[in-house]
Amino acid sequence: MIPNMWYAVADSDEIKPGKPYGLRRMGDDLVFWRDQQGKIVVMLDRCPHRSAKLSPGKIVDGNIQCGFHGFQYNAEGDVQLIPANGRSGPKPKAFKCRKLEAREAHGFIWLWNGEDRDEYPPIPWFDNLDGFSYHNSTSQTHWEVDYTRAVEAQLDVSHLPFVHENTIGRGNQTLVNGPYTTLEDNVIRVWLSNQPDEGLPALKPSQLPPPEVPQSIYFIFPNVWQLRLTDKMCIVSINAPIDDENVITYSRTYQNILRVPGLSRLFVSASNRFNQYALSEDYRVTKTQLPKKADLDIGERFIPGDRPIALYLQHRRKLILEGQGNGLPEHNRESV
Ligand code: FES
Ligand SMILES: [Fe+2]
Repeated sequence: MIPNMWYAVADSDEIKPGKPYGLRRMGDDLVFWRDQQGKIVVMLDRCPHRSAKLSPGKIVDGNIQCGFHGFQYNAEGDVQLIPANGRSGPKPKAFKCRKLEAREAHGFIWLWNGEDRDEYPPIPWFDNLDGFSYHNSTSQTHWEVDYTRAVEAQLDVSHLPFVHENTIGRGNQTLVNGPYTTLEDNVIRVWLSNQPDEGLPALKPSQLPPPEVPQSIYFIFPNVWQLRLTDKMCIVSINAPIDDENVITYSRTYQNILRVPGLSRLFVSASNRFNQYALSEDYRVTKTQLPKKADLDIGERFIPGDRPIALYLQHRRKLILEGQGNGLPEHNRESV
């Protein structure tokens, strides 16, 4: 995990009011719930009394109630009621749940992986989705790999005619010119210029003119990705880390073509199904990659067409080292 970053970890629609949800994310078992105002609360899924999970409990009067002895905790994690002590009995401060810094934005739930701060940076998001909708249609795909392998697959432009031979990689465009790739402010942009091999060597990124159209791939660190299909349609995915060997990819189709809600809902959910099929094609290969976590210096080699992946891994390493230079481990919470 990269320190001091917001990670998108779940779909807003997953966490309904009035009920706690246990989700494993970033190596911890967490409980997600909403307070009386509907604001998202995320805590370690462990009761400070006798260590039962909180997620099988209930929401009572805007508090989360542990199912074991009925202790209630508010959105700050402070104990509000210890039934065995009586309503007016003592509520020692030591009974406090560990709360995580969480936000809700763009229909996703985000967790801060880093040091506590007075002020947090804004949630990273795309600047090209105004007027686009996804109609709350989000698909989920579970892969048994570290999330970095899923990010790599999304930045891999030379696998298309092989892994997706009959779907998104049709046309035998095996020659990878460039790709022209930029990294700026924790954003990687990639312009695809693959073509069928007509006998000439692939062009280097420096031989390609600066692109005049928007990027094909738009990746925001640490785990948010967009693939532009047309001016009016794109896929957005987040790779939510479960732990070092599991990731859930949430995918949406954003479109600006159909305005009639019923039709556009049908359209985006059909597109999501197609996208899930393409992801299953990726997974057939990705699940065979070892180690399950991508990194530099693990004996893998790069070709020029792997430039987006190399940039991702290099920048990821740099951000982790910067965090460590400031005394931050990759993962800053106690394990549960
Ligand atoms: S373990 Fe939660 S109230 Fe006792
Ligand atoms: Fe792929």
